[in-house]
Amino acid sequence: MSSAPAAIQELDVCAIDGWTLHEFAEVTSTSSLAAHLPAWSAVSATVQTAGRGRTGRRWVSDEGGVWLSAVVPTPGDPALWALLPLAAGRAVLDAARDLGVEGVRLRWPNDILVGRRKLAGIMVDRFSAEAAVVGIGLNVSNQPATVDEALATEVTRLADLLPAAPARAGLLVRLLAGLTREHHRLEVGDVAGLCRDLNAAWVYRHVHVTLASGQGAINGHFEGIDSHGSLLLRGAVGEWRVLPAHQVELFREIF
Ligand code: BTN
Repeated sequence: MSSAPAAIQELDVCAIDGWTLHEFAEVTSTSSLAAHLPAWSAVSATVQTAGRGRTGRRWVSDEGGVWLSAVVPTPGDPALWALLPLAAGRAVLDAARDLGVEGVRLRWPNDILVGRRKLAGIMVDRFSAEAAVVGIGLNVSNQPATVDEALATEVTRLADLLPAAPARAGLLVRLLAGLTREHHRLEVGDVAGLCRDLNAAWVYRHVHVTLASGQGAINGHFEGIDSHGSLLLRGAVGEWRVLPAHQVELFREIF
């Protein structure tokens, strides 16, 4: 395993509850850097110059947010670890709830929202069969709208939702502890428990959604997930559809 490229200045490395956390001032993407590190390593940076979001989108990562990537082992059944993006969503949701953020919810697959505004996003990369990199972007006191005006109405931050923006160190500890917990839940095969918790967290699950999938556009009510992580949709005349997650290219809520 290689450590960080020499050109990147590492600010600190510390041990947190079984994790080795490498902190940097500026990187392209914490997830790209974490891809070279062993399981239970984590990388955080003050700024990402090329932060990546899901489906090839860019992720604005200015100073004041938490940009964190954590490497977890994924032994055994790949079908189990296909649920990791959902489990990571649960971990971040719980961290936000524990901080006292009111009205925080999950939007499939793992966006963390308050109302319609995004507080945090998660992207899981599989660079090998043995491990996955869970990348978490959490808006805290950063100013994403100064980078991209369109984000002014799309994004929220902990600083907008709590009396004071929580300290970065404590946030990193909470997020890593949540990932450890959810990873353990998958490792012991408690898929039923995960799905039960997730299905209680899609607060807007009765909202109409439109999906783009290999089968074209599909409208319906999102009713949660089954024990394989497939989406359950109820159509206009009450018919049910089960859609494997990998077939869903776009998931949009219609209010
Ligand atoms: C999304 O909602 O599209 C996922 C956003 C994930 C952003 C995080 S920030 C830390 C890690 N490094 C990246 O380049 N992306 C993820």
